Amino acid sequence: MKKLIGAMLACLMAGSLMAAQGKITTESGGVKSLRNSADLAVEAPAAQLKNFRKDGDLYDRQYMHQPPLVPHDIRNYEIDTKVNKCLACHSFKNASVMKAPKISPTHFEARDGMTLGEVSPRRYFCLQCHVPQADAKPLVGNSFKPVEALN
Ligand code: HEC
Ligand code: HEC
Repeated sequence: MKKLIGAMLACLMAGSLMAAQGKITTESGGVKSLRNSADLAVEAPAAQLKNFRKDGDLYDRQYMHQPPLVPHDIRNYEIDTKVNKCLACHSFKNASVMKAPKISPTHFEARDGMTLGEVSPRRYFCLQCHVPQADAKPLVGNSFKPVEALN
């Protein structure tokens, strides 16, 4: 039992050491965030909003079951409990008139596998999964390569 507690303590300590090393700090030792090194107590101008790509071709998918990227601007498209602007074009009812791709049947499936008569609550907030693209410098590097079948 003592041995087990010892091993657990060692793991905990190693964990906090790693966490300390992984922390991104600025030269002055402060924590770095999306606001860069600006101290939380200091007023700093917000970063300039990026311009999303306007309408264009669909993006290729990079892996199976990837939520497709949004190929158009979405500024001012409201989504709340009463209104869902995305569904004004992408619902089964409106898609063909709006010449937009339909949401797929998976968007009607509840978590227990039941297919509902309307968009499932877990697929209602579209931007949880679908993101628009801007021509911006990536925040972190990425060497991901799509699977061969999609190349
Ligand atoms: C005014 C109609 C309209 C609205 C509102 C709209 N879209 Fe679209 N969307 C389109 C059209 C049309 C396309 C087809 C590509 C194009 O023309 O840009 C599209 C394409 C897409 C695609 C690409 C699908 C694929 O298979 O690659 C996604 C994802 C998407 N929209 C998500 C959204 C989300 C999320 C919202 C809400 C924030 C939204 N759209 C609001 C019309 C709309
Ligand atoms: C939990 C994640 C999630 C949410 C939330 C979500 N989607 Fe999707 N969506 C996906 C995935 C994954 C796919 C691709 C596989 C599939 O069809 O399930 C997809 C596919 C799509 C497609 C392409 C369908 C096709 O047949 O190629 C459209 C259009 C789309 N979603 C629109 C929307 C809209 C509009 C909303 C909000 C009402 C939404 N999605 C919410 C994950 C999500």
